[in-house]
Amino acid sequence: MHRVAVIKGDGIGIEVTEAAMKVIEAVTDRIEFVEFEGGFRVFERYGVPIRGEDIEEIRKMDAVLFGATTTPFNVPNYKSLILTLRKELGLYANLRIIPDLWNGREIYVVRENSEGLYSGMFRATEDRVIDFRIITEEGSRRIARFAVELAKNKESFITLVHKANVLMGDRFFRKTVIREAEKEGIDVRERLVDSFTIDLVRNPWNHGIILTENLFGDILSDLAAIHARSIGVIPSGNYGIDIALFEPIHGSAPDIAGKGIANPIGAILSGAMLLDYLGLDGWKIWNAVRSYVKVGSLTPDLGGVAMTRDVVEGVIEEIESEIDPLEWDEVWTDEIRISFIPTMFTK
Ligand code: NAI
Ligand code: MG
Repeated sequence: MHRVAVIKGDGIGIEVTEAAMKVIEAVTDRIEFVEFEGGFRVFERYGVPIRGEDIEEIRKMDAVLFGATTTPFNVPNYKSLILTLRKELGLYANLRIIPDLWNGREIYVVRENSEGLYSGMFRATEDRVIDFRIITEEGSRRIARFAVELAKNKESFITLVHKANVLMGDRFFRKTVIREAEKEGIDVRERLVDSFTIDLVRNPWNHGIILTENLFGDILSDLAAIHARSIGVIPSGNYGIDIALFEPIHGSAPDIAGKGIANPIGAILSGAMLLDYLGLDGWKIWNAVRSYVKVGSLTPDLGGVAMTRDVVEGVIEEIESEIDPLEWDEVWTDEIRISFIPTMFTK
C-alpha cells in the first residue's frame, strides 16, 4: 500500500480533488488516502496555513495530492499553503505538463523551485532594496539531474533557457546543467529567455524538456499554458528528495465554485503523474482522458455543457472499458508514456 496525503483546499480545489481520487480508485486499489486540512480556515484558527504536526505526518507519506486554496492578499502575515508546503517538504523541482489532448502533444517545463530570486533573501535600506538571486552548485545539479532523468526517460533532449549573456548566476547554472547532461549523453540546446518567449508562443511543441531557473520558469510555464485550451486541464508535480506533491495548476476559482462545472481534468492528470511517481499505471489515466475528450461532453471552459461529475464518470468508463490494446495505440503516442519515476531520489 502507498499512503497519499490529500489536501483538497478551497473552492473548486475540493471538487476537482474528489474527482481525481475517484479516477485513481478506478485504476488501483493500492493507495490509501489520508486527508489533511490546510489553507485560510486553518490560518484563522491556528495562525498558520497548516499545523506543524500535520506537516510532520505528511513527511511520512509517499506522496501528496493537492487541490487549490484561496490566498487572500489583504491579510498581513498570511503565507500561501502551497508555498509553505514546497518549502517544508523541500520540493525543489516543478514539472508542468501542458497537454494538447486532442493532438497528442505536450510541452514539458521543468522549473527550479527553491532558489533564484525566490530565495526570500533581501537587503533593504532607506533608498534601495536588493533581492538576492541565489544559484548554488547543489541546487543547479539536482534540478539538472531531474531534467536529465526526464529527458532520458522520454528519449528527448533539453532546451536550456537562460540569460547567461548578462547574469552571472546563469553562467554558473548553465555550466552545471551542461556537465550533468553530458555525463548521460543528453543533448542540450540553449536559448536566451527573451527571444525564446516568441518561440514558445509560435512554435511551442518541439522543445523537448524545457529547463530553466525559478523566475523564468514561473513566467514561461504560465505563458506555455495558453496552448492547452483551458487552464483547467494542466497538471503539475513538485518533487523533493523523497516525497512529491501533485496539483492542477489552477486556483480555487471562486467565480465557479459550488456550481459543479469545474473542469476536473487537470486534477485527474495530476493523479496520473502521482501514479507514475509511485510506479503504478498513470498511463491508463492519460489514455482514458485522451479518449474521453474526443467523444465525451466537455465542461464550459472548453465550450461544452458538461458537469464535473459527467467528465469523471466518462473517464472512469474509458478506464473500465476493455479496449483492445491495438486501439489504444491510436490514441496513444509514445510521447505521453511518462511513467516517470525519478528513481535516484525515491526512498
Ligand atoms: P483561478 O485559476 O482560480 O481562476 C482563473 C480563471 O480560470 C477563473 O475564471 C476560473 O473560473 C477559471 N478556472 C480555473 N480553473 C478552472 C477549472 N478547473 N475549470 C474551469 N474553469 C477554471 O485563478 P484566480 O482567479 O487568479 O485565483 C483564485 C484564487 O485561487 C486566489 O485566491 C488565488 O490566490 C488562488 N490560487 C491558488 C493556487 C494554488 O492553490 N495552487 C494557484 C493559483 C491561484
Ligand atoms: Mg505562477
